[in-house]
Amino acid sequence: MLRALFIALSESRSIRAIAERSPMGKRMSGRFVAGVDVAHAAQAAEELNRAGMSVTVDNLGENVTNTEEARHSAALYHQLLDEIAKRGLDANVSLKLTHMGFDVDPDLARSIVDDLVSHAARIGNFVRVDMEGSPYTQTTLDLVRAVHSTPGHAGYVGAVLQAYMRRTMKDAEELCAEGIRIRLCKGAYKEPAAIAYQAKTEVDENFMRVTRMLLESGIYHGIATHDPNMIAQTVQFAREKGITADKFEFQMLYGIRRDLQEQLVGEGWRVRIYVPFGTEWYPYFMRRLAERPANVFFILKNLFRR
Ligand code: FDA
Repeated sequence: MLRALFIALSESRSIRAIAERSPMGKRMSGRFVAGVDVAHAAQAAEELNRAGMSVTVDNLGENVTNTEEARHSAALYHQLLDEIAKRGLDANVSLKLTHMGFDVDPDLARSIVDDLVSHAARIGNFVRVDMEGSPYTQTTLDLVRAVHSTPGHAGYVGAVLQAYMRRTMKDAEELCAEGIRIRLCKGAYKEPAAIAYQAKTEVDENFMRVTRMLLESGIYHGIATHDPNMIAQTVQFAREKGITADKFEFQMLYGIRRDLQEQLVGEGWRVRIYVPFGTEWYPYFMRRLAERPANVFFILKNLFRR
């Protein structure tokens, strides 16, 4: 019930407008969000690199409603790619299509992503296109495939698949056949039973089925989870099959299960941290609370600590 409440809250535009402007809101989100500008994100990336972790940086924002906003988001990602190169960071970027204007004009989003992937290819970096709710699943995958097949772009753009979606194994096979790198996560939106597994056991089973396929595909994929059980099974499978640590990476979110992040690095596994930054933190923050409502108490407790 609490999960449904936080997901509903994540979609409320009026509460979002109030929360994102309030000093208290900004303070609360600090646990999961690295700051408001590129310099904050770069600083967080530097610290994580020093701790032996790679990074993917996300400028928070989704569902922009006009061309100017989309172009502004794109410019920020170009700046981010340049900053990563300038500072020599071990970091790539993650973006959402609706932040690049997909709802305004899909062709605009396509051309923005094309330009960003060209930029990334020129400097040897990589663009990950996050996966949003199910109305965007097919169009997002179509766009990633189209960009990936553009001359010079192969290997510089990747997709995300959600293990709660019933279609995911088929999507994973199709993307792998084209050599596209995948981040596998469980999925953060509320989806109907007709298209998505609802029970945790079913989602977990699918997560591992797809993970095993990805690990054996010979392509460098990301296994994105904080679930110790999924991680232990992935490690066990990799060891059994002789799949070495340089063939894939674990991915986790900034500020979540730092103990586990450090433990995996200590054991010699590759770990990439998803570092979100920006002023539009509200929907992201609410989805994190939906995953673990106990975080509300954790955050409130820390608010009153110095
Ligand atoms: P699960 O939710 O089953 O939790 C397992 C355990 O992990 C919990 O018991 C707890 O210990 C810990 N945990 C999980 N969430 C926590 C939280 N918020 N706070 C504290 N502890 C927590 N989704 C999506 O739909 N599209 C996308 O593009 C992405 N991208 C993405 C990138 C990366 C790097 C990650 C790690 C995740 C995503 N996600 C995502 C989110 C993902 O779909 C999922 O909602 C969360 O990762 C939570 O699922 P877990 O696999 O961590 O396990």
